[in-house]
Amino acid sequence: MRDRHVVVLSGAGISAESGLATFRGAGGLWEGVPVAQVATPEGWRRDVGQVLRFYNERRKAVRAAQPNAAHAALKDLEAVFRVTVITQNIDDLHERAGSSRVIHLHGEILKARSSRDDTMITECLGDIEPGDRAADGSQLRPHVVWFGEAVPMMDRAIEAAKTADFFLVVGTSLEVYPAASLIDYVPQEAPKFLVDPMPSGLADESFHVVQASASEGVPRVASQLRAMMA
Ligand code: APR
Repeated sequence: MRDRHVVVLSGAGISAESGLATFRGAGGLWEGVPVAQVATPEGWRRDVGQVLRFYNERRKAVRAAQPNAAHAALKDLEAVFRVTVITQNIDDLHERAGSSRVIHLHGEILKARSSRDDTMITECLGDIEPGDRAADGSQLRPHVVWFGEAVPMMDRAIEAAKTADFFLVVGTSLEVYPAASLIDYVPQEAPKFLVDPMPSGLADESFHVVQASASEGVPRVASQLRAMMA
């Protein structure tokens, strides 16, 4: 029988219990600076050093973090289902937990790229400093999507959402577009779950809401999905 397809949309909340701060948890501030002011092309034009410092800090935190039980439960689902993880997160915790199909809508903090050619991408495990150059001589920047920039992986994510037999939203406020619009592409008949300790009102009433942390709620939903297949 064709493997049933579980599609996951994850956000910062799935990595919160791994010690990585959510965006809107701390009032959306980083060192008193609104994230939207730092993670934008305007912020980059205004102060390259401040933006690089912001991502250097986050890269260090990501490298020190470990996947949690929610990431592991999604990897374990691959024993029974085809699983596609669409994440808004720029950390690599899904990959480190062993998920084999991960789509990063907002880029990856452990990669860097030319600030002129967004296909010139290299691995980046350390800090990026002003003056660090890409092969084309431009200033190196984090390979992440800033507010207002294109989301090149969106088409792939939409194709995955359209083929979902089950859809699971974990740890996202669903406040950022186009990511949040993915729920509109999920087939009507696919059971939809939302795991969040403070679920936002944005999920329509067709969602089974599991008001719990990711490390508690995702394993619970995973066992419900397995039971549906038993
Ligand atoms: N388990 C599950 N969910 C949690 C937990 C937890 N332990 N702690 C917090 N949450 C939930 C919050 O209730 C909230 O709904 O995670 C969500 C985090 O929302 P945001 O901070 O807005 O993060 P996210 O939705 O991923 O932001 C989307 O915005 O800043 C941009 O590009 C950035 O990818 C990010 C995007």
